[in-house]
Amino acid sequence: MKIQVVIGSTRAGRVGPRIGKWVESAVNQIDGLEGEIIDLADFNIPFFDEPISPRYNPAREIDSEAKRFMDKLAVADGYVFVTPEYNHSITGALKNALDYVDTQLGRKVSAIVSYGSVGGARAAEHLKGILLESGSGVVPQAVAILGSPTELFSEGGVLDAEIAANPYGPAGALHKTLTELAWWTGATVDARAKELAAV
Ligand SMILES: Cc1cc2nc3c(=O)[nH]c(=O)nc-3n(C[C@H](O)[C@H](O)[C@H](O)COP(=O)(O)O)c2cc1C
Repeated sequence: MKIQVVIGSTRAGRVGPRIGKWVESAVNQIDGLEGEIIDLADFNIPFFDEPISPRYNPAREIDSEAKRFMDKLAVADGYVFVTPEYNHSITGALKNALDYVDTQLGRKVSAIVSYGSVGGARAAEHLKGILLESGSGVVPQAVAILGSPTELFSEGGVLDAEIAANPYGPAGALHKTLTELAWWTGATVDARAKELAAV
């Protein structure tokens, strides 16, 4: 099952990619899951300005970069959103990108990995509501990374060995979260396949 790891920050010097790499590597260690990083910085998505809400507009004319992002999301079975906290919420870039989504996340499941001074907890709570409204379920387990990501993670996405060894630290939380995500992703993949077969 394909799990996309969406990196929610785009600024120069961001730490998002190192956390994304850590998550992708952990996804690939779970039986049956295959991780792929989707970096918002690789898409030049303009500010959303469509005249009608996407989920109520079958005749949408979609910006080509936004469409490329949506088409990418559409092929995944499940998602992990890696989000920092900006002003007690998610980044404008991630919110803007998600405003374009119509059916791509529908009847699938997402997990959230957040970071910031309180583990990105406020951003994670906002993101949960946004994902639910976008049609995705959200697993109850989550990862909130406390502490400075530049000290915790190498640029290549390797977590400090001592912290990684703590089962109650971020590595343990990520494993638990991904295990649940795998279960829910399997269940929704099966359910969608049965629905298609019945048509
Ligand atoms: C515009 C902006 C607003 C921020 N607001 C918050 C905040 O409200 N709460 C918080 O805990 N951290 C806040 N931070 C700190 C970020 O969470 C932290 O720098 C994080 O590493 C940013 O992720 P990034 O490096 O992937 O962009 C803010 C950072 C920026 C750039």
